[in-house]
Amino acid sequence: MSDQMLAPENTCRQFDIASVREDFPILRQEVNGHPLVYLDNAATTQKPNAVIDEISNYYRSYNSNVHRGAHHLSDKATSHFEAARERISKFVNSPKASQVIWTRGTTEAVNLVASSWGRANISSGDTILVPELEHHSNIVPWQTLAIEKGAQVKPIPVSDIGEIDLAAFDALLDDSVKLVVVNHVSNALGTINPIKEIIERAHSVDAKVLVDGAQAVAHFEVDVQILDCDFYAFSGHKLYGPTGIGVLWGKESLLEAMPPYHFGGEMIESVSFSGTTFNRLPYKFEAGTPDIAGAIGLAAAVDYLCSFDRALVQKHEQDVLTYAIDLLSDISGLKRVGESSNCTGVFSFVITGTHPSDVGMLLDQQGVAVRTGHHCAQPLMERLALPGTVRASFAMYTSRQDIDKLYEALTKVLQFLV
Ligand code: ALA
Repeated sequence: MSDQMLAPENTCRQFDIASVREDFPILRQEVNGHPLVYLDNAATTQKPNAVIDEISNYYRSYNSNVHRGAHHLSDKATSHFEAARERISKFVNSPKASQVIWTRGTTEAVNLVASSWGRANISSGDTILVPELEHHSNIVPWQTLAIEKGAQVKPIPVSDIGEIDLAAFDALLDDSVKLVVVNHVSNALGTINPIKEIIERAHSVDAKVLVDGAQAVAHFEVDVQILDCDFYAFSGHKLYGPTGIGVLWGKESLLEAMPPYHFGGEMIESVSFSGTTFNRLPYKFEAGTPDIAGAIGLAAAVDYLCSFDRALVQKHEQDVLTYAIDLLSDISGLKRVGESSNCTGVFSFVITGTHPSDVGMLLDQQGVAVRTGHHCAQPLMERLALPGTVRASFAMYTSRQDIDKLYEALTKVLQFLV
């Protein structure tokens, strides 16, 4: 079956899956003698030429350190670097670009909040609520902080289909709750969590909310002002950008009050042996030479994604997910894991009588790249009583033909394994 050609809108580029795929050179290769079917996009997305070229152009023509050189190349690098921050600010509808802090990724952004805001604001007897479906990187920093402060991390239960139990969440909300952390989209299941409701309810007891948006920003538009979240974190490499760059967005009043996280050059205003004063936002949190090429590459990725009507990209991705759900349910013994009707980008499954890692290895032999295991979400796997799943995850360039090839490859796997 062929993919739909989606109509152009306004000045946006037409979303034509064949031409989108042409923009991603890595997709044109064979793996183990088969055309690559890349279905590991929740782990990392591939990069379009626009991103590769932008990074290459930076290193070829204006590589230099930012904010400190008295020369042309440094000025140019600085203006591109700060323009990248402005671009990301617009992307999430931040009131100010200074609320966009560059980090190495979502993990560092969460650690920054735990280490800085957390150490200053969490005390003995406080509670941090963490849904059972979180990634380890949004559990362990809070556990560590809670141990240090004598606070408690309490899990918010999820249902059998992988949805956060809002009634159970309400029951946990009391005056001891100072922070709720939640992913916008589950990396293991693709569930889109009701974060607007969660934020409203958390704010009713004066708790702050940190949202891990790593699996969300590539799939649909995010507006931090509409959400009214306190912190929002995401990674560049899951958004068609480079690895090693990510973003922490925060409310200005919170960021202003937070102590620095790392110390070094750039984050200071003045240093003497009698004392040091710190730089203004966002530099207070950006010690040392930043990932300049990464920031510029990430802005190019956002430009690329936003050159299409995002609603059409989202429609295409939902079409691919629905197609996968319909087609793969035909496979004997296959059970989808995480059957919420509100999902994006992920088809996680188990097959009776097989181990996920064996399925993944045999798929790879046929050129199909998936991830298997607990997906850094061991508490969720424990809740669902599973050792792990096979996870096929999708991006804007995933086609119905990719799903057809996954189906064919799985049929062969089952002839071998069952
Ligand atoms: N967090 C990434 C994933 O889910 C690595 O695969």
